Amino acid sequence: MKRRDFVRNMSIAGAGMGLVTPYKIFAQHAPAAKVRLGIIGVGLRGQNHLHNALQRDDVDVVAICDIDPYMLQSARDIITKSGKPMPKVFTGDPHAYRKLLEEKDLQGILIATPWEWHTPMVLDSLAAGVKYVATEVVLGITLQDHWDVVKAAEYHKANVMMLENVCYRQDVMAILQMVRQGLFGELFHMQAGYQHDLRGIKLNDGKPGGGVGVEFGEKAFSEARWRTNHSVHRNADLYPTHGIGPVAEMLNINYGNRFVSLSSFSSKSRGMHEYIVKHGGENHPNAKVKFKLGDMVTTQIKTANEETILLQLDTSSPRPYSLGFRVQGTKGIWMDVNHSIYLEGVSTSSDEWEEAKPYLEKYDHPLWKKYAKDALGAGHGGMDFFVLRAFVEAIKQQTPTPMDVYDAAAWSSITPLSEMSLELGSQTVEFPDFTGGQWMYRENRFE
Ligand SMILES: NC(=O)c1ccc[n+]([C@@H]2O[C@H](COP(=O)([O-])OP(=O)(O)OC[C@H]3O[C@@H](n4cnc5c(N)ncnc54)[C@H](O)[C@@H]3O)[C@@H](O)[C@H]2O)c1
Repeated sequence: MKRRDFVRNMSIAGAGMGLVTPYKIFAQHAPAAKVRLGIIGVGLRGQNHLHNALQRDDVDVVAICDIDPYMLQSARDIITKSGKPMPKVFTGDPHAYRKLLEEKDLQGILIATPWEWHTPMVLDSLAAGVKYVATEVVLGITLQDHWDVVKAAEYHKANVMMLENVCYRQDVMAILQMVRQGLFGELFHMQAGYQHDLRGIKLNDGKPGGGVGVEFGEKAFSEARWRTNHSVHRNADLYPTHGIGPVAEMLNINYGNRFVSLSSFSSKSRGMHEYIVKHGGENHPNAKVKFKLGDMVTTQIKTANEETILLQLDTSSPRPYSLGFRVQGTKGIWMDVNHSIYLEGVSTSSDEWEEAKPYLEKYDHPLWKKYAKDALGAGHGGMDFFVLRAFVEAIKQQTPTPMDVYDAAAWSSITPLSEMSLELGSQTVEFPDFTGGQWMYRENRFE
């Protein structure tokens, strides 16, 4: 019996035996027409979610929290412009969000703070009794963080969803349809990554958005205040989920398949230093900073169903943005970097790539067909509309979120695991099974 058939049969057998899949225990109360939402962190990303939430008739943003007066004022301006009532504002100290969590009848919390705050804020939200918690990527810093969130979600019978918006990218969803309809045959290799020039650190110079400069930490604005420090102190795939989320959905990771092991490789680190010297001069204090993050971090992953995945993190060199998707099966291949596809027996020439566009249009996902107009202007080509919608709909229907805590943990744990692999000289390290064996029986709920 093929492994895939084995897993499918086991799923059916599991259902027959009355096994409780973890997501089944998460169902809550009666459906609601409107969702009372609190937002922790209204920096640039949080403001984007805030804007999208305010556009919705089925969401009341009842509370927001941030510690930065500038960001809070920007958030207030967005709310005033929307014509919706001003929510309660919590601020003052880094734990002011705990006061927000004391608010009555909060149905959902959305967290858009720096990475190191995600785990404590999710844990506190769950402990406060919130049953739907959405966090921006990533889920945590250490492997233990990921376990803590999984165990807390199980203990509180609550839903934790990572807001992985790229799973809702229009082309990615069309390719997912094609994968599910078997057009690529049996998948055996995938590639993805986060390839985005992040060298242009924004200054906190009092101007909206800040000028582009070479400062980070206290002198900087938005992500440069906190994110750049991770590149100073850590060598790992620091941002795996935009690439791995869509790949995981296509490979049914946690649903009859799982990540088994990974090994990571890292190049030298030059980009950030050269950028600082070029724009700040050799004598700038930051020119002395040694960046630990390699300019290219490559991670190879093996799955239980024997697919290979190549992930790349490339954020410190001059390059146009690309997530570098490649989906390859026994019948064909799609690559997003050249917008091309090849399907054996379908494509006219076996020597030339075909333009992917007609296929992407033909297999446009029903969700995109239905909501493309609503998604206009939501951010990141519309996918931000869909990820928020998925969270809100789950709360309204009192159903599990389409991407759950096990997905978040599996995707996001690539960071600490790759860090571990690099520290061990690129040794192969095993993925933990956050589902505790349930991956064999769970059904993929992602649309
Ligand atoms: N999915 C995407 O496409 C996407 C895009 C951008 C950012 N992000 C993610 O969103 C998150 C936030 O990024 P950002 O760009 O908005 O950064 P940001 O620095 O602009 O915003 C973070 C905000 O959190 C606030 N904050 C920090 N500590 C806090 C605390 N203890 N209590 C309350 N507020 C606190 C900061 O004051 C700031 O306003 C990160 O995880 C980032 O990776 C995701």
